[in-house]
Amino acid sequence: MPLSHQIMSRQIKLAAKPAGLPKESDFLIDQAPMPEPQDGQVLVKTTYLSVDPYMRGRITGVRTYADPVLPGDVMVGGVTGEVLASKYAGLAPGDAVVGYWGWQDHAAVPGAGLQKLNPQLAPISTALGILGMPGMTAYFGFREICQPKAGETVVVSGAAGAVGSAVGQIAKIMGCRAVGIAGEDDKIDYITKELGFDAGFNYKTTTDYFGKLKELCPNGIDCYFDNVGGAITDAVLANMNVFGRASICGQISQYNLEKPEPGPRILGLVLVKQLKVEGFIVSRFGPRFPEGIQQMAQWLKEGKLKYHEDIVEGFENTPKAFIDMLCGKNKGKMLVKA
Ligand SMILES: NC(=O)c1ccc[n+]([C@@H]2O[C@H](COP(=O)([O-])OP(=O)(O)OC[C@H]3O[C@@H](n4cnc5c(N)ncnc54)[C@H](OP(=O)(O)O)[C@@H]3O)[C@@H](O)[C@H]2O)c1
Repeated sequence: MPLSHQIMSRQIKLAAKPAGLPKESDFLIDQAPMPEPQDGQVLVKTTYLSVDPYMRGRITGVRTYADPVLPGDVMVGGVTGEVLASKYAGLAPGDAVVGYWGWQDHAAVPGAGLQKLNPQLAPISTALGILGMPGMTAYFGFREICQPKAGETVVVSGAAGAVGSAVGQIAKIMGCRAVGIAGEDDKIDYITKELGFDAGFNYKTTTDYFGKLKELCPNGIDCYFDNVGGAITDAVLANMNVFGRASICGQISQYNLEKPEPGPRILGLVLVKQLKVEGFIVSRFGPRFPEGIQQMAQWLKEGKLKYHEDIVEGFENTPKAFIDMLCGKNKGKMLVKA
């Protein structure tokens, strides 16, 4: 069935490289004729869009570990969708898929780059959260790099977000003591009362991070999962035990800064405490994602792992959802329902 020109497809493009915190006017909504799938492609209708901190790095105009999105380009991003038409043998109309076609409400994309979802396993939206990239970041980035052992103390920053909330729960499953840091009292209640973290504190209502960590981690800190960087991380590292391990996942406190923050020089501390501090990009564990998804899905089924999604309605609200996430308005995974 020819689908072209019946309706238009909407695309959200970068309008301008943001200075500091992005504004909604840094994005624009454009229209394009409905794409038609070519051989090997499928036409997908977007169902959920993910908004993630890494997107802030993509719109700085600088290549980091990936090419930048430039003004005029469609924003990149993980998305789920429903196949409307297929010229790819492995997918049929009605299939639910997850892929990386970015902020567009319809797209014609190579079927080979999509992963078919099983709606019986978990709700489709989880493919962008607990059973998707953020969940795999928590699962592999914590276990592989921190190598946690039962009885150890684990501190997680960004603890109420998509990645951090999963890390603390995995730490508990592994028999550790989990302490979280987040930016609202309500988030601390959520991680301690609903998710089973042992303790936590709001970094916006104290300036003495070092003292707070000493109080909440009387035996010192063995593992640190860092989502935020900056002064929080300086204080955590200063409380680490000898042979502690720190997994450097994200540095969100720095993403909107126009000038790098001067920081303490930590290598002397790393030396005398014999710490292992390692950064990672989750794609390095890509080949092992099926193993991570299977284990996390099992924990969900057993009730050992919980997740929360903040779902914003409306494709056109994606830039606002992205900015709100950067400002900490989300609990768990921030998503947009197209
Ligand atoms: N290495 C990788 O491969 C990889 C993969 C995925 C994610 N990440 C990183 O992991 C981190 C968490 O990602 P996510 O998707 O789970 O996001 P998220 O935690 O769900 O959302 C971002 C959170 O960051 C916190 N935040 C914002 N500004 C902050 C600041 N100045 N200081 C401290 N916290 C701040 C906010 O919570 P509060 O209310 O607590 O401030 C906000 O809710 C990010 O740094 C991201 O870049 C890395």
